[in-house]
Amino acid sequence: MCEIKKVGIIGLGAYLPERVLTNKDLEKMVDTTDEWITSRSGIKERRIARPDEATSDMATEAAKRALKDANLKPEDIDLIIVATITPDMFFPATACLVQEKIGAKTCPAFDVSVACSGFIYGIAIAEQFIRSGTYKYALVIAAEKLSAITDWSDRSTCVLFGDGAGAAVLGPVEKGGILSVFLGANGKQGDLIKLPAGGSRIPASKKSVEDKLHFIKMNGAELFKHAVKVMADAALQATAPLGLKAEDISLVIPHQANLRILNAVAKRMGLSTDKIYLNIERYGNMSAASSAVALVEAVKEGRIKKGDKILLDAFGGGLSWGAIVIEW
Ligand code: ACO
Repeated sequence: MCEIKKVGIIGLGAYLPERVLTNKDLEKMVDTTDEWITSRSGIKERRIARPDEATSDMATEAAKRALKDANLKPEDIDLIIVATITPDMFFPATACLVQEKIGAKTCPAFDVSVACSGFIYGIAIAEQFIRSGTYKYALVIAAEKLSAITDWSDRSTCVLFGDGAGAAVLGPVEKGGILSVFLGANGKQGDLIKLPAGGSRIPASKKSVEDKLHFIKMNGAELFKHAVKVMADAALQATAPLGLKAEDISLVIPHQANLRILNAVAKRMGLSTDKIYLNIERYGNMSAASSAVALVEAVKEGRIKKGDKILLDAFGGGLSWGAIVIEW
């Protein structure tokens, strides 16, 4: 029970909705151009969930794929964490809905709400439970239906976001695994990106709907500046205690908010941009699901090999941030 274990990712899965919304499609919806979106963000297209498809549906699909990859059954899972800011509803937690849908046992299941940093926070929490010997296997799922909280008439936000889900099964490993974790948050910057209404501060009303307060409000330019700084700092805080330098990291799997942010982070870290995994062009910003789906695809594409040291690095609403070094 008290033996300290090494914890690693032993299975991965992703789910992306079928519908593709291109920049050309957006040109017909708001006053924008493919050129503006591509040059300002690096995004070409994003996936949009069906109206009848909720976050738990996408999370369930990603979880089933991760379980298959880990060669485990739903009943083997001891803990389920869903990172999301677009839960099916306030409660029950989306993690409880997923537990039922995949047919897991009555294990603990809860959501974490730290926007784009959610996958990293979820892994960090699960790692503690497994390392202490409390649980053996955990499912950490990051799933978002941002299209449901996007104002499709606001060109400054609607071009950026997309829907999707990624899942990881964590368990004990013999070698490598999670080497270090660094998390942080600064509530003073909470106003930079938020969904103002629907909670206890501004409960849903006719007025809150008319005022469009149930959609993402964002100060993009300010966020941009903070994002570059906190992502580079988080990377340093996670690598320095291990004595690792930027060149020791084989691949960075970052939150995919903006290509220009990621190029600036690479420069600040002294890394060549080919060491930063990118799929923002195809999916846009899927909040917590971005780094999860990026990890799944990087592994699938053979970009991560046994023994590689990789870095997960994210920032998001809160503001919140986090970085994790994993030996694969
Ligand atoms: N198409 C055409 N023009 C646009 C669009 C659009 N879709 N959106 C804004 N513009 C206009 C603006 O109105 C502005 O016009 P003005 O100068 O006449 O006022 C002009 O383009 C420039 O706007 P800026 O906001 O200065 O553009 P910027 O270069 O900063 O790029 C962007 C905007 C892409 C939002 C960038 O600031 C960014 O990516 N910021 C970070 C956002 C982010 O990371 N968000 C998520 C973090 S947390 C989470 O993921 C949940």
